[in-house]
Amino acid sequence: MQLNSHNAWGNIDLYKQLYNDIKKNQEAFWMEQIKDITWIQKPTKILDNNTWFKDGIASVCYNCVDRHAQSNQDKPAIIWHGDEYCERTQTSYQDLKNRIIQIATALKQHDIKKGDVVGIYMPMLPDAIASMLACSRICAIHMVVFAGFSHEALSQRLKHSNAKIIITVTQQKRGGRTINLIEQVQKATKSLQIPILNLDELKTKVDDTNDQITYQTDQDELFHIYTSGSTGTPKKITHTAIPYLIYAATTFKYIFDIKPNDIYFCTSDIGWITGHSYITYAPLFHGLTTVIFSGSPTYPEADRYWDIIEKEKVTIFYTAPTAIRSLQMFDEKLIKQHDISSLRILGSVGEPLNESAWNWMFNKIGKQRCPIMNTWWQTETGGIMISPLLNLEQNKTRAGLPFFGIDITIEDQNGKPIEEPNNQGMLKIKSKWPGMCKNIQFKNKEYSTGDGSYYDEHGHIKITGRLDDVINISGHRLGTAEFESAINLTDNVIESAVIGIPHELKGQTAFAFVVAKQHIEEQQTVQQILNNTRKNIGPIAKPDYVLFVNELPKNRSGKINRKLLTKIYKNEPINSSDTHTLINPDIINHIQKKIKEAIFCPDICRIKANKNP
Ligand code: PRX
Repeated sequence: MQLNSHNAWGNIDLYKQLYNDIKKNQEAFWMEQIKDITWIQKPTKILDNNTWFKDGIASVCYNCVDRHAQSNQDKPAIIWHGDEYCERTQTSYQDLKNRIIQIATALKQHDIKKGDVVGIYMPMLPDAIASMLACSRICAIHMVVFAGFSHEALSQRLKHSNAKIIITVTQQKRGGRTINLIEQVQKATKSLQIPILNLDELKTKVDDTNDQITYQTDQDELFHIYTSGSTGTPKKITHTAIPYLIYAATTFKYIFDIKPNDIYFCTSDIGWITGHSYITYAPLFHGLTTVIFSGSPTYPEADRYWDIIEKEKVTIFYTAPTAIRSLQMFDEKLIKQHDISSLRILGSVGEPLNESAWNWMFNKIGKQRCPIMNTWWQTETGGIMISPLLNLEQNKTRAGLPFFGIDITIEDQNGKPIEEPNNQGMLKIKSKWPGMCKNIQFKNKEYSTGDGSYYDEHGHIKITGRLDDVINISGHRLGTAEFESAINLTDNVIESAVIGIPHELKGQTAFAFVVAKQHIEEQQTVQQILNNTRKNIGPIAKPDYVLFVNELPKNRSGKINRKLLTKIYKNEPINSSDTHTLINPDIINHIQKKIKEAIFCPDICRIKANKNP
């Protein structure tokens, strides 16, 4: 099987032929792909039960940095843009290697060894990437926490993951504001007593004798990352080193059709899985230049992305629907004043890309020349699972196809596969793939993604969004239960139920139904609720709506029926199958009435919690 041509992801007939061939013999495909890696010891086996590339030995850091520093030392690995137009740095592969060795040396001086967990709480600086790679160099496991999370959220994750040290910097500058990060870290670590490594103060001297790569084998872990599931506490996802890297790198190679001189700009953050797979590991593995930005897309003007694309001659631009929606409302002149004709391919990830955002991106950014790779994947999957083809005509259908080796099925509630078009079911994955997290759960030989999807009339896949109790706010995954735990900490609040509702800019937002003690000052309680979600989760977790109700709909075992609340909110007809398990079906009328009143008389019911605390 020869897959040298990147056409593989561009031509529907070739794609189909390859997909079917690879389905029959996945091992041959991966055997070919692992030639891109520099091995210490090449694996003899591709998949052995759940283990990929057993007996293979290599270094993630060597593959992402050292080998490029050897062959192309001055090539920029990272180009960074800061909060102001003039802030820019360029880090060559050799510079990056030096900094990694320095950080790795400091970690070793703190007695960090193979298998230890290292917390990272950093803005989008080159040092954030260097920190991750420094961990991988010594086989420590990084655990990055998004720097927008509160110190409580950071503390919870450090404790749960048993982190031995935390890496940070003094401050973060974003949107004209300065945020004191070290203070947050000091608060977070107060009761944990773990050392803080502030990279702004790093003076560790390095010479090559201090440096030693610790190689990784099939089961060694590269990182832990917390995401939201359907419980009140964040869910830890563990990724392997080598198999994960191979999956991220291979999907990147085909889906973005990368060329050695590509300048690649992804607007995500290392706090999320996209920042791991497609800002750090895959681009550097292939020796590309990865552009990062630590500012706000709208500060000082809403042209920051277009300015960076013009200045760096970016060829591939990977962003999120929420960013597109927030930029769509600004004057088109902000785009037109920049020459963004270097762009070749656009990408989107994190949430459904609505039609208006797709059109705007296609027409205004890609000037009808660039395909939009609307990639579907998850923290659990490690890399892209479904994407449209690169071919412009195919791309216009806006639907995706599974990556090579990925076997998907869409099933109804009874687990029966749905084959006819336009009929929604749950997206499930039947195959195993190298990027799957170590703690993935297969039930009946299938992994349930939690997402709704359907086949279009060509048999391509459209994703509709989560079917479980996870909300996707501006591409950030948050569990309804996490909101509820934070809201329930509020004095006077007895209990709460949170649902996700559509939001013009954020995609979805949180709507909280709250049962409070009688005769309370409602507006004051709303403020306290907002304080609690901000304090316990972070500013991104702000419910836009708070509605006080007398009671929540619960079934006989006491479980809150959030699907019913969603139906009530949407004003959909309620039938007996929705109500027969309820303890108190009368509550439906009450909530329906409350919502109507609130929508028509917002002053009275204070439904909108849009005053910042
Ligand atoms: O609901 C899907 C949505 O984001 C969820 C995964 O979130 P997370 O683990 O934070 O990873 C985000 C970055 C990979 C999915 O279950 N999602 C992701 N990409 C898309 C999407 N929904 C629709 N279209 C997408 N392209």
